[in-house]
Amino acid sequence: MGHLKIIDKAAKYVKHKLFDFEEGGHDWLHTFRVWQTTRSLAMHTKCNKTVAELGALFHDIADAKFTNGDETIAIKLTEDWLQQENIEKNIISAVVHIVKHVSWRKQYKYDAIDYPELAIVQDADRLDAIGAIGIARAFSYGGFAKRPIIVPSAEANRLNDMEDTISHFYEKLLHIKDSLHTEHARSLAYERHEFMLQFLNQIHKEISYVYF
Ligand code: ADP
Ligand code: NI
Repeated sequence: MGHLKIIDKAAKYVKHKLFDFEEGGHDWLHTFRVWQTTRSLAMHTKCNKTVAELGALFHDIADAKFTNGDETIAIKLTEDWLQQENIEKNIISAVVHIVKHVSWRKQYKYDAIDYPELAIVQDADRLDAIGAIGIARAFSYGGFAKRPIIVPSAEANRLNDMEDTISHFYEKLLHIKDSLHTEHARSLAYERHEFMLQFLNQIHKEISYVYF
């Protein structure tokens, strides 16, 4: 089967699987954006486009956050589907390698020269976690996890262990721009990063009355 046909078929399968996913930040439209960004990054990078696009499409097929930490489900779904379509073994193992290691939580260390497809899918996934879309996704996930939006520090001492969604920006989202592998992704990240800083500045300003 040719590249376009297999990608189109995979997209239909993943869309069907993720369409009514209960958390808006990890739904089909997140995967769709990561797929499109991957395609655009792939134009600037020497890589196997089929592996990169399939990796993007399958990267969140069963995120461990929503499977009680079980990481084998995503790998099995990916492998089963690709095998059933008679995809070459070396392509299957490269796509599974992406699904296994794409997550921020894994902190998988590698050289982007060795795995250019993983590097661009990871960059595309990370770009979708910053900027205006990243802000929207963080609060979507925060709402899903029943986290408060922002707990002013005056209140934090009394609500011990209550983690707010704003902390996630300092723990992860503000570090993303320095974790990207490709030059093109870094150029796209700049404006998104600045926008998050502006947003954080504004939200702190708006709730500053709490300190008086
Ligand atoms: P990855 O899928 O690369 O491991 P995550 O699952 O941590 O990355 O992040 C995916 C999306 O979920 C991002 O948009 C991220 O901001 C959001 N997210 C993850 N954890 C939190 C959190 N504790 N609070 C708010 N948003 C979160
Ligand atoms: Ni993702």
